[in-house]
Amino acid sequence: MSADNSSNGHSSSNETIPYTPVAGQREAAAERRKGYPYRFPRDPRLLGGKFTVAENGRRLLRFFYFERRLMQALGAWTLSIPEFEVKLETGRHIFYHADAARLLRERLSEQEMRLKDIDAFHDAEIDGFFDELLSAGHAPELLVGMHQVIGRALATVYRHHIDDTCPVTDVPTIRCLRRILTDYEPMLEWADAAIAAYVEGGVEESPLAAWRWHLQRLLASIGGVTGSDPRGEAPSPLRTTSKPFARGTVPLRDVRFDTFKSTGDYDVADGQERFPKDSYEALRLRFIRTQRDEVDAIEAFGTFIWDIRFKDFQAEYDLARITWDEARHTEIGHRALLAAGYDPFELRNRLTGSTCRGPMEPAFAMAEINLFGEVGVLKTINQLIDAAASRNDELLRHVSDFIRADERTHVRKGGKIIQVMTDLSAKDLELRTRELFTECLVSLGAVKKDMDVFTVSREDIEHLVGE
Ligand SMILES: [Fe+2]
Ligand SMILES: [Fe+2]
Repeated sequence: MSADNSSNGHSSSNETIPYTPVAGQREAAAERRKGYPYRFPRDPRLLGGKFTVAENGRRLLRFFYFERRLMQALGAWTLSIPEFEVKLETGRHIFYHADAARLLRERLSEQEMRLKDIDAFHDAEIDGFFDELLSAGHAPELLVGMHQVIGRALATVYRHHIDDTCPVTDVPTIRCLRRILTDYEPMLEWADAAIAAYVEGGVEESPLAAWRWHLQRLLASIGGVTGSDPRGEAPSPLRTTSKPFARGTVPLRDVRFDTFKSTGDYDVADGQERFPKDSYEALRLRFIRTQRDEVDAIEAFGTFIWDIRFKDFQAEYDLARITWDEARHTEIGHRALLAAGYDPFELRNRLTGSTCRGPMEPAFAMAEINLFGEVGVLKTINQLIDAAASRNDELLRHVSDFIRADERTHVRKGGKIIQVMTDLSAKDLELRTRELFTECLVSLGAVKKDMDVFTVSREDIEHLVGE
């Protein structure tokens, strides 16, 4: 309210609400203010912004959709990234995008939108962009597209949105975007360093630059992240025109790994026992190796996100969180092997489970890793933690304590995820899963088929495939 208005008691013509004083009130307020001694910090935010609720919602919905598609797209590539460090980091990034999508979805539900409609939203142009992004030829190209093109574009748009929206009326959106950027900053920084590492290690730089340019033009052709930028012409030809994207089915490892898939048993794979079977030392090493080899669980849960995409947001979100947890378990295993005196790469890496799960329908692969694998871990981990504590083995006690908490959480979430994946009864699901794994384990030579009618037990699967 301006001083001019108050002096004559009338509003100027462009004020929508006229100032109408009641005699004495303003003077009384000024008098009361004199008795208030506190000078609290001034809040400098100014009222006003560029967006209506409808336009805010339109933009946030696109942000949500990009984040959801990024989570799914990285999931689709988890099997196909060979480099250990990149696979691990990608497991973490999947969750960053999932969590960004969750925050945006929640804010959208406060901006006149229903969760049902938010979850059902699709955009064919954005889908086309992701199809091309997914057609990366190898992991360095994947990082270029996911981080240097779309990741960076999103971070820029989020910062602009923070600047452009009203800092008073729409502060929940600002807080939401700031929290997302907290994850983006280290993620994009890591990606730049990782791409530089690929180039320094011999990956040709020029094709990466060409791919970056190609995707940037494609993004510009759909009006950028917001859809409101001036549209450029789409690049041609697109890779997806000649070859539509299909996710990989084979788990890849980098050259430092010595892998095996013809057995699930580490001693058989090594050709000898390091410690007497069932001794504490044997169980301890097996546990730590299994954690490191949960690099295959990043692949399993990441792939499920892709395979069940758009069926149920909560299931995608829970899978993304489990994917990150499994990346942590892998890191825990790697570090624990170092602390136990090993070069983690001297220990052969088990690919048995991931090889079977890779091409499988998600319900059966999920039943194996969750209902057999993770439930199986919980059957023995209490004893292991107690044995570690009584031996003063602080390394094993520490890591297995946290892993137990994680795996209990995975088992709890798993039940709901499986319901999204299949209508089969628990009994039918278990039987069909055992049949499929018997077939796969026989084909790998991990079990011998000695009868006409033969299906491995769930205990065998727990032992052979692990988790
Ligand atoms: Fe795990
Ligand atoms: Fe797990």
